[in-house]
Amino acid sequence: MNLCSLLPAFTPPLVPPLHANLPSRSDVPEKAEAIECENLSYSITTRQRKLVPILKDCSLSVPSGQLWMLLGPNGCGKSTLLKILAGLLKPTNGTVYVKRPKSFVFQNPDHQVVMPTVEADVAFGLGKFNLTPDEVRSRVSKSLEAVGMSKYMQRPVQTLSGGQKQRVAIAGALAEACKVLLLDELTTFLDENDQFGVIKAVKNSLGDSGDVTALWVTHRLEELEYAGWGTLYGRW
Ligand SMILES: Nc1ncnc2c1ncn2[C@@H]1O[C@H](COP(=O)(O)OP(=O)(O)OP(=O)(O)O)[C@@H](O)[C@H]1O
Ligand SMILES: [Mg+2]
Repeated sequence: MNLCSLLPAFTPPLVPPLHANLPSRSDVPEKAEAIECENLSYSITTRQRKLVPILKDCSLSVPSGQLWMLLGPNGCGKSTLLKILAGLLKPTNGTVYVKRPKSFVFQNPDHQVVMPTVEADVAFGLGKFNLTPDEVRSRVSKSLEAVGMSKYMQRPVQTLSGGQKQRVAIAGALAEACKVLLLDELTTFLDENDQFGVIKAVKNSLGDSGDVTALWVTHRLEELEYAGWGTLYGRW
């Protein structure tokens, strides 16, 4: 289930636009980068009214169609950055661009896989697209195939292992034809077998289309060899 669509990024302004001749979304040329942010900062204010910086001048750029990994120690701000990219948090400063549609997959699949069966969970997010039942079935089966979960379609989700639930969560994002997958430490709770199974499922889902991009957050060094193209070290 794609939580990005459940939690809209920022509250839209209620006032009418000041410039009537701004380019429409379709006039704006699509960028080669799927993710681009410049000088991002994020701070929180404590109850004692103290400003605590969490991200400071963070800039990154991820080209379309690639799997990139974001590596950093506990508490360096990886999840915060991902939540900003997903639109769940608003940065204090800086600019963010992330191709749409985008999806954020949580570290703990129990926060995301909530429908009674695998098929129902993957289909859940498709309700907003006005698809025919055949189109829904086709999208669900293709995305479950991409993550190696076809034979679990009718399974109650509570009977799945953690790694299998992660794959169902990824399939939900793929079914919605998300262009960008923001993946937060998906393998934390998994054994080695499921760990690499889930990484392979993500790589598989990128395919050769050059259209789907994934940013994979981790602090496990051994996962880096799967990135193939690029690694961002979270040392800001
Ligand atoms: N709402 C908040 N209030 C106070 N501190 C926060 C809040 N959100 C994040 N932080 C702090 O910001 C820092 C970065 O947190 P974040 O969860 O982004 O780290 P992380 O790199 O994802 O860590 P981990 O590898 O453990 O998941 C941490 O020190 C955290 O305690
Ligand atoms: Mg984190």
